[in-house]
Amino acid sequence: MPPSIPLYFVTPKQVNNDYANYAVWLEMSGFTGQPDSYCLLPSADAELACVLVGKPSTFNTWTLGDLAQSLPAQKYALADDLSADEATKLCLGWTLGQYRFTRYKRTDANALPELDFPDNVDQHYITAAAESTYLVRDLINTPALDMHPEALAAEAQKVAERFNAKCSITASEALADANYPMIYGVGRANGHDNAQAPRLVDIRWGKPNAPKVTLVGKGVCFDTGGLNMKSSAGMKLMKKDMGGAAQVLGLAQMIMQLNLPVHLRVLIPAVENSISASATRPSDVLMSRQGTTVEIGNTDAEGRLVLADALTEASSEQPDLLIDCATLTGAARVAVGAELAALFCNDDEIAEALIACGERQDDPLWRLPLHEPYRNMLDSRVADIHNISNAPYGGAITAALFLREFTAGQSPWIHIDFMAFNMRSRPGRPEGGDAMGMRALFALIKERFGG
Ligand code: BES
Ligand code: ZN
Ligand code: ZN
Repeated sequence: MPPSIPLYFVTPKQVNNDYANYAVWLEMSGFTGQPDSYCLLPSADAELACVLVGKPSTFNTWTLGDLAQSLPAQKYALADDLSADEATKLCLGWTLGQYRFTRYKRTDANALPELDFPDNVDQHYITAAAESTYLVRDLINTPALDMHPEALAAEAQKVAERFNAKCSITASEALADANYPMIYGVGRANGHDNAQAPRLVDIRWGKPNAPKVTLVGKGVCFDTGGLNMKSSAGMKLMKKDMGGAAQVLGLAQMIMQLNLPVHLRVLIPAVENSISASATRPSDVLMSRQGTTVEIGNTDAEGRLVLADALTEASSEQPDLLIDCATLTGAARVAVGAELAALFCNDDEIAEALIACGERQDDPLWRLPLHEPYRNMLDSRVADIHNISNAPYGGAITAALFLREFTAGQSPWIHIDFMAFNMRSRPGRPEGGDAMGMRALFALIKERFGG
């Protein structure tokens, strides 16, 4: 086996001092040792001798993200001495950078470079984080034709089976019978006993006496807006509206794969928000699982409805930590953009701890407030609460306040409103579906509950 090609991190000073005999080559290549740039160096017999990589001021997860796609398809090794933490981050970012969505490609993709991971990396963590991220990306990238509620439920079941978790699925009218009226109300436009019919997935894993962590994910497999139909531009990306479900499944997989000592529960309402004669109408009033009534001001505010019933069920067991993830509002994207997850939390200490975990994992979250004075914007004249606010502003906050009504005062409760999609490629994060906040959440759960 030929030896791996060494990859050296270099500063501009080192480029000048240590590679003087390559000065012309380096100049021709325009490489000066700046971060986010690299240069291939040839040997005397014109083979690839080594790769110089501009050394960043601090290594992070994304340092090698681009190289993992762009280097020639050879075998490489990191020549520098790195701490275990640095090496783990670099190798995770390398792996995440090699993701490609190939399900519908009938032509072979070009070969990718390989990297020998240093001995000190946390290989278990890299494998679990990468497999989970790939799962989240694949689930989101798969169009609704193939990632309908039945398929999403089947994917959840597959994850559960892999780790011997219990998994139950309630579908169609059984949802109404089991008192999930709002999951049924959003999903019923799709009729019964077909792949698009609504479902609730319920996964349980771990020792019953361990601290209880419950995850809830918005699984709207396609969001047309319902009768309040979205515009063409607004609908285009809506296969990603099950991103919350994908992210909690990915997080659950990480927790199970790395065997965190928690009692895990995952609830995924999987529905399509479709248009049909049996669709819920604007001005309809739905009963909720909680027993309160909800006026439907806009059928496009469907995520909060299906989450509300799932959160009511989750809260009934008073978990030690309740987390929901959802592509809930366009307003959260206006507030923090597509590349930051918006975080709402009713416990300041947990919120700060999660943000700190996000910083350490290069997985950023930004906190928005559960601003109490906005609660009355959800008041309804005909029902107990309205599913939309009467004000055009603060939509991410009023959506979070709506969810809060169904958490029975459960604390700590974390709500993440995120994009689940990279609108542009960045190192390690190709354009398309993605987890956002998943590694931060994992780190928080590990920090809080051990393992
Ligand atoms: N799935 C959308 C929110 C969304 C849109 C997330 C674009 C990410 C990008 C959600 O179901 C929705 O349509 N929300 C409405 C709520 C409104 C009708 C109160 C929104 O944000 O416009
Ligand atoms: Zn919607
Ligand atoms: Zn939606």
